[in-house]
Amino acid sequence: MRLNKYIAKAGIASRRKADELTINGNVKINGIVSKEPGYDVVEGDVVEVNGNVVKVSNKFVYILLNKPKGYITSVNDEKGRPIVMDLVTDIDERLYSIGRLDYNTSGMLLMTNDGDLAYKLTHPKHHIYKTYRAKVTGYLSNEKINKLRKGVDIGGFITSKANVKVIKQAEHSAIVEIQIYEGKNRQVRKMFSAVGNKVIELQRIAIGDLKLGHLKEGHYRKLTQKEIEYLKNC
Ligand code: URA
Repeated sequence: MRLNKYIAKAGIASRRKADELTINGNVKINGIVSKEPGYDVVEGDVVEVNGNVVKVSNKFVYILLNKPKGYITSVNDEKGRPIVMDLVTDIDERLYSIGRLDYNTSGMLLMTNDGDLAYKLTHPKHHIYKTYRAKVTGYLSNEKINKLRKGVDIGGFITSKANVKVIKQAEHSAIVEIQIYEGKNRQVRKMFSAVGNKVIELQRIAIGDLKLGHLKEGHYRKLTQKEIEYLKNC
């Protein structure tokens, strides 16, 4: 397998980034720096990136986790907070989350060791709708809803068109479903803040056609073959 494909499949970097890492001398094959992105990795080769041995699993795992609040979606946390992998107890493979949910956001998180699929789905050019259910403070006027739909400035970035549906408007708060296809850091919170409402609770309930459903918080399940095919083809 070509070196850049091998590094991407291991979930370390995109193929292009893998080429850069190789050309810059960050990759060793069998203990020797290799600057050849076209190197053909064969069985028995030991590939290191930045001093860490990387392995391509021949067994891909795809799971859907219902992330509770209070978990970090990275492989480690310098503040020692719980990480989502702590919840994935019976899978030996090292999984990476496809996109992120912030510490206080709950809901649907896809995780895999298929680096190619993870890179494809998180690439900014890849448009897959993510659906969130938000509880926000205050009243959501039609004017605000239209602003959210058309795009708002979240600090130097104008969001693209979004679908917005108010599920319930109470006296001092509202429940809203919002669909966006970008994935800027804390985007939903920033969008509501841009129209003067604060997000009190946030949950991701769908990614494209895949739904969180009734999976309990902190639990996960393997994706079906049909769901995996859907993600690969969308
Ligand atoms: N938007 C947010 O504000 N937080 C998330 O975790 C995801 C989207």
